[in-house]
Amino acid sequence: MLTLPEPSVTPLRGGPTLRWGVLGPGGIAQDWVSTVHRHTDQRVVAVASRSSDRSQAFAVRHGIPHAFEGHEALLASPDVDVVYVAAPHAQHRPLALAAIAAGKHVLIEKPMALDAQEAEEISQAAKAAGVFAMEAMWTRYLPQSDLVSRLLADGAVGEVRTVTADLGWRWEYSAGDPRFDPTIGGGVMIDAGVYPLWFAHSVLGPIDSVHAIGSVAPTTAEIEAVIALRSASGALASLSASATTTTPGLASVYGTTGSILFDSSFVFPARLRILSDGGEHEWADESGLAGRDGLAWQATALAAYVAEGRTQSPLHSLDDSIAVLRVLDDVRRQIRRHAE
Ligand SMILES: NC(=O)c1ccc[n+]([C@@H]2O[C@H](COP(=O)([O-])OP(=O)(O)OC[C@H]3O[C@@H](n4cnc5c(N)ncnc54)[C@H](OP(=O)(O)O)[C@@H]3O)[C@@H](O)[C@H]2O)c1
Repeated sequence: MLTLPEPSVTPLRGGPTLRWGVLGPGGIAQDWVSTVHRHTDQRVVAVASRSSDRSQAFAVRHGIPHAFEGHEALLASPDVDVVYVAAPHAQHRPLALAAIAAGKHVLIEKPMALDAQEAEEISQAAKAAGVFAMEAMWTRYLPQSDLVSRLLADGAVGEVRTVTADLGWRWEYSAGDPRFDPTIGGGVMIDAGVYPLWFAHSVLGPIDSVHAIGSVAPTTAEIEAVIALRSASGALASLSASATTTTPGLASVYGTTGSILFDSSFVFPARLRILSDGGEHEWADESGLAGRDGLAWQATALAAYVAEGRTQSPLHSLDDSIAVLRVLDDVRRQIRRHAE
């Protein structure tokens, strides 16, 4: 009978700490700083906005000592060790490159860049500068992801043959909404589709065949995608992403002797069932960090990696981010070509 392994994650408290600076104090930065300050020993010491009023307001709200107008001022500060790039997709490349050029470590919101070529550029720059760089694929740092990875390494479901994952949240269409502007990374694949692609890649490894169909908005940004992948090992994935309907965000891994089934959205701290050896096990995240509070885990993991002298995440490397974006580029190309 299978004994469930205990997930091993970097503790939220008591480890090495870094002084963080935030670029782009918007929606996700708000959630991230809030959980990091409440649940970890990491400290956000600076924030920079395009507007002095907005950086001041954000600093006051979160007890951040330094508020800057303009990103360069924060990047010049000797008080900042690591920069969190939390601006919209199209700003990831320029802001990450500027942070790296200033000698800062960098955590870049997902997806790391608009396409694989931009991500490659960021990766090369970080390697040349010798700084730590990581995509904020925060789900990988949740306890459930360590559990899944241990179960797979232990052969708990036999040989993995199929992965499924979906993610969808409905957006009301408006031509002026940046989410529908393909020139700045609009479209469901960058926003939501990157998660199912990451999940498949994290379980199956390199992908060698991509087939996608979908539909596009009048702006040509893709709003629905159904994707079939084959990995280099011959296993398959069936994925979907949608901006026209909100889906439960479920994922599963089917192997020759068992399955791992998410009972709640795989992106957030979740509940799982594991079917193995004819038995059924249930597991639920009981860390107390629900929903976006789970964003805190990646911050303590990053601080530990830097203290260990690493320049990349051992759980989701820059090459992993680039590989996922290569598949995403292909999916987007196929959907837009078929829509012409
Ligand atoms: N991990 C997750 O669960 C999660 C969830 C949501 C979003 N995200 C990712 O986080 C990123 C930001 O998303 P968000 O929803 O937080 O975005 P947002 O609120 O629209 O923008 C974040 C901030 O970036 C700055 N900004 C906006 N446009 C800019 C521009 N053209 N140039 C420079 N700065 C600009 C703004 O701050 P100032 O104008 O004050 O400088 C804005 O408040 C996206 O890449 C998204 O994929 C991740």
